This record gives sequence, structure tokens and C-alpha cells, in this order.
Amino acid sequence: MKSVIAENLVKTYRKGEVKALDGLSLDVEEGTVLSVLGPNGAGKTTTVRILATLLSPDSGHATVGGIDVVKHPDKVREIIGLSGQYAAVDETLTGWDNLVMFGQLYHLGKKASIARADELLERFSLTDSAKRPIKTYSGGMRRRLDLAAAIIVKPKILFLDEPTTGLDPRGRQEMWGVIKELVEGGVTLLLTTQYLEEADHLADEIVVIDHGKVIARGTSDVLKKDVGGERLEVIVEANQLKLASEIITRISGTAAHVDEGMRSVSAPVKNGTKSLMDALREFDDAKLHPLDIGLKRPSLDDVFLALTGHAAEETK
Ligand SMILES: Nc1ncnc2c1ncn2[C@@H]1O[C@H](COP(=O)(O)OP(=O)(O)OP(=O)(O)O)[C@@H](O)[C@H]1O
Ligand SMILES: [Mg+2]
Repeated sequence: MKSVIAENLVKTYRKGEVKALDGLSLDVEEGTVLSVLGPNGAGKTTTVRILATLLSPDSGHATVGGIDVVKHPDKVREIIGLSGQYAAVDETLTGWDNLVMFGQLYHLGKKASIARADELLERFSLTDSAKRPIKTYSGGMRRRLDLAAAIIVKPKILFLDEPTTGLDPRGRQEMWGVIKELVEGGVTLLLTTQYLEEADHLADEIVVIDHGKVIARGTSDVLKKDVGGERLEVIVEANQLKLASEIITRISGTAAHVDEGMRSVSAPVKNGTKSLMDALREFDDAKLHPLDIGLKRPSLDDVFLALTGHAAEETK
């Protein structure tokens, strides 16, 4: 069963001047994670806001949990959770107060609200800061609290709009851990992101959007295959380019790409870590000392370049 279906959504702003969504369609199978991947201005927040009933489409149709978002927004709101780029929490209150307040807002009752707040603070590693005002929280803590607020009444379907944008690597890892746990608990998740790595890590399926339209969809493996997956790249002295190219070609099984200007040699590899170790060994045997060597994962930019022939750029 599909938990979320969007068909041909169109949304314009400023009396039609800005076309945020231009016939966007997607769906999310129950119990799975769909990642909507796209650059700034692609239409991610607009999509989420329509599905979460905060915004109506100009045309098109969407259901969440089988319920029409335009016809029955109240019913949709009962079964979803939303955590956005803008946290709906009160800065001056403590984390604990905020969650208890949210619980009561959703008619949980005082006792149940307190129990749920304690449980979520513990689960999201916020117990130590529970009694501090939100304004003293780090970006990562704030995001986790925002997510806790979104799931206070255990939604069946959860929307997360760029849950890790602006977080440092550690904050991102922590957030990923929390999200994974939720997914294991059976929630259906639609998550927007600008990071291919994040979509790769969390999603069962990815839709790539650009200018309010889906331009590709598939599993992360399929999309990465389209862009050539991971690449092994080495930087050497100019007179070592030929030898390096031979070694990298042998390891990759595909002809290496040589960039003389950058003095780099690179090629796609399947098993990144093993290939990297093989390369290091072969370079060592050949008494060749690379200036730099590493694995390059495809980024959203690489995906865009492969799919559209142009770089991901902000929509004006
Ligand atoms: N309230 C608004 N008024 C006018 N234009 C808007 C409004 N909200 C969004 N837009 C425009 O609609 C397009 C899609 O915006 P949206 O916020 O959905 O993109 P996004 O993918 O969420 O971007 P970001 O990654 O920056 O959050 C952009 O061109 C944006 O400038
Ligand atoms: Mg956005």
C-alpha cells in the first residue's frame, strides 16, 4: 500500500511568477523511506508543506494515508508528524517543558505527556539538557528536540524537511541514528535533503527533483551507477602520471581518467576500501609516492551533472 501519493502537483507563488512545483509526482510505499533530493529552491519544502496540509496546491492531487490532503486536512494531521527547517519550539522554555506542552497540545493528558517527554529526551540523548532553555541548545540538540516534538503522538507517517542541513558531521551522525531507529519502529518516512550521502544512508528509494519536477527516481545504487559510483583518485608528480594510470586502470578494470593539469588519475571502483588498499600497496611496490590518494563519493552535484548535464544551481 502507498502511504503517500502525489500526482501532478503544481504550485506557484507571487501570482504565478514563481513556479515552485511544476507537475511533481511521487509516492511512498508504507513502511519505507523516500528521500526527496534536490538543490536549493528545487521545491522540497513546498512539496512537504502541501503533503502536511500547510499549503494547498494550485492543481494536482495528493493523499496521505489514503486521505485527500485538500479535502480532509484535519484527518491527515492526525496521522502525520512534521519536523521542518523552522523549529516550532519555544526558545525560552526548557526542552522538557516544550515536549510536555506539545503532548498536552495533542491531548495526551499531563501524566502521559510527562512520561512521553521523558522517554523521548532519553532516546534522543537530551536527558542531561532537559531542564535547560532551548536557546542554550546546539544546532544538533535543537534538531533532535524538534524531531521529538514531531513524534510525540507516534505518527504513522513522518515528514522531515532537511533534518541535518547545517549540522556538523557528528550532529549529522547522531540525527541519522535517531532517524534509523524511528524507521525500524515502522514509521513511513518522507525526508528531503541536499546530500546524496544522506539519501544513500537512510532511504529505500530516492527521487531527484529540479525546478519543481522529478528528474530521476530509483534506489541509491541505481542512481549512483548512473553517475559512476565511487571513484578512486590519486594525485602524483607529472612524470608519474603514466605509471599511476596503469595501476589505477588495473585496479578499476576501466580505463583511468587522467587530468594532466590537476595531475590527477581517477577511475570508478566497486569496492572502495579494498581498492584503496590495493592501490596503496601497488604504489608502494612501484616506489611511487602519491601526493594525495582517496575515494571520492558522488555528491548531489555529480548526480545533477550526470542527469541534467548542468550543475545543481539555485532556482531564481
Ligand atoms: N512564499 C514564497 N513566495 C515566493 N516564492 C517562494 C515562496 N516559497 C518558496 N518560493 C520559491 O519557490 C521555489 C521552491 O521553493 P522551496 O522552498 O520549495 O525549495 P526548497 O527545495 O525547499 O529549497 P531549500 O533547499 O532552499 O530549502 C523557489 O524558487 C523559492 O524561491
Ligand atoms: Mg526548503
